[in-house]
Amino acid sequence: MKIVQHTQEVRRAVREARAQGKTVGLVPTMGALHEGHLSLMRAARKETGFVVASIFVNPTQFGPNEDFKRYPRAMDADARLCEGVGVDLIFAPEPREIYPDGFATYVVQSDLPDGLCGPHRPGHFRGVTTVVTKLFNIVQPDVAYFGQKDYQQAAVIRRMVRDLDMPIEVRVMPIVREADGLAMSSRNRYLSPAERERALCLSRALTEAKKLADAGERSTAALLDAMNRIVRPAVDKVDYISIVHPETLREVGDVSSGAVAAMAVWIGKTRLIDNMILSPARSRQEKNVKRKT
Ligand code: PAJ
Repeated sequence: MKIVQHTQEVRRAVREARAQGKTVGLVPTMGALHEGHLSLMRAARKETGFVVASIFVNPTQFGPNEDFKRYPRAMDADARLCEGVGVDLIFAPEPREIYPDGFATYVVQSDLPDGLCGPHRPGHFRGVTTVVTKLFNIVQPDVAYFGQKDYQQAAVIRRMVRDLDMPIEVRVMPIVREADGLAMSSRNRYLSPAERERALCLSRALTEAKKLADAGERSTAALLDAMNRIVRPAVDKVDYISIVHPETLREVGDVSSGAVAAMAVWIGKTRLIDNMILSPARSRQEKNVKRKT
């Protein structure tokens, strides 16, 4: 495994891999790696011939009052973890490699970034779409891997790839959780033991909503009520608790044609997000069949 900091070194390594007939997989991360990240790298290892992981705490996706400075950095441990799952190349650039003096071009999506986390993190998705576009252009992967943990991010990137004709397959992998249900996150490192205990309310509320939906509850009002009752007493602030359509990310009143429950809450100084698919999006074909019968 090689660790490189410069774009030209990535291009050279990818060129060599391609010359050997290998396909290229990319796993973009901000480091402080955990099993969630590693699950993406393992999928990439299985499905592509040359696996690139990027580790870059991207300044443009953090707001001025967010945790950019204190975001955990753990390069040595990260490198060992990457090596362990068979990553071929780590791209770990310095900020000025990605944002040289005079940098002035951003990728901005309308629509999908408007809801859920968007209003609470102005500029966040602009930072994500910009850095992911740059990583795509630098690595030029065949397949790029993202986690369902950041449901909105994955939806935004899928749409970007489609809208801008990027010749890349986007794979979205399931959320990896701790044994007690807490979704793995680099930010879990901020939690004290007491806060970590309170953080279990997220997965508990989502599991409860899923259970009710599976038992036949269709009304999102009833499901939101159940989630709010579990989450509100355990957290310090709620950014949102929502049930949205899996593709449009618009709020729905009924879960029948597809629904994802998603939330962002604060526990102490830590913002946590989690989500669960309550029912998959019904395809147009299924809707047509339903209409005919
Ligand atoms: P980061 O938070 O490091 O996450 C990197 C990738 O790992 C994302 O696709 C995220 O959804 C996935 N991931 C995180 N926790 C996961 C879990 N518990 N289970 C499954 N997948 C998980 O997301 C980012 O970085 C950045 O926004 C990035 C895309 C790298 C752009 O800077």
